[in-house]
Amino acid sequence: MRSFLGRDILSLKDFERNEFFHVFEVASELEPIARSRRNDDLLAEKTLVTAFYQPSTRTRLAHEAAMHRLGGHVTGFADAKMTRAGDFYQESIKDTVKMLEFYGDVIVMRHFQQGAPHEAAKWASIPIINGGDGWGEHPTQVLTDLYTVLQEKGQIDGLRWLAVGDMRMRTMHSLAYALTQFDCPVTFVAPPEMTLTAEFKEELKHYSLDFREAEHVEQAIGDADVILVEPVVQPDYTKARDERGVEVGLTPANYKITRELLFNKAKSDAILLHSLPRMDEIPPDVDITRWSRYWQEAFNGVVMRMALLALILGAME
Ligand code: CP
Repeated sequence: MRSFLGRDILSLKDFERNEFFHVFEVASELEPIARSRRNDDLLAEKTLVTAFYQPSTRTRLAHEAAMHRLGGHVTGFADAKMTRAGDFYQESIKDTVKMLEFYGDVIVMRHFQQGAPHEAAKWASIPIINGGDGWGEHPTQVLTDLYTVLQEKGQIDGLRWLAVGDMRMRTMHSLAYALTQFDCPVTFVAPPEMTLTAEFKEELKHYSLDFREAEHVEQAIGDADVILVEPVVQPDYTKARDERGVEVGLTPANYKITRELLFNKAKSDAILLHSLPRMDEIPPDVDITRWSRYWQEAFNGVVMRMALLALILGAME
């Protein structure tokens, strides 16, 4: 297995099966620190730099919380408009990271341009973690999802997935790449204008992913062990910021997971994941059903970032 020391986390296409399990093992080891709301000193000598060119609640703060839990330090920005990258100068990724690399030991970057973290990794002498790039990928989120599945179901192989939402989403791309490493048939359900591209489907076939597409969640929910939902009503992820217009549409029934649907059609032991934020695709009355696991995902999101930071920065092997 390749070492994680000093490694960029840009894509799950790069991840090997045993690397997934190794990250999950380290996450389990570190979990008691977060569970007991303690701060340890594993990364006391290290600093995380956050470079967020797009809004985020979970990804940025979970990385920051993870760094604090491991005794490390945090600096960075959550609004590029207040830096030279977002004002008159429109400073390039290269020029920006050639500065940031001296301010800390690892950079987590979210950007509206697909491939921006990869560009940063070309120039930075410290590791880059992709915190979501345009319609590209969101590897740390999907590692969190898979870790949640392992925690909740005790296995990943052999589970059937239903993935609902906009297939242009970065989480969907990372999910599809990740599932190629497991025995997990998956059904994708998306609006016609948001389906998997022909090119991406060819790539998934090349990696032997067992997948099919359906038009309505009702066609696949009955078989699913894991139901992963993302919005179909959402911002343009290629913009730095997308204010909500006065009118936004409602999610059609085809892409919505309601309490009634779960009660009537879902397996009684299926689990329901959502990376959040949500619109109306999972109504709040689903939150207290036995299927929902998105609040557990929120906790696991901190644990997963602790594992990644500890591995990349050499505190764990
Ligand atoms: N799941 C996720 O990426 O959330 P944020 O946009 O709040 O980081």
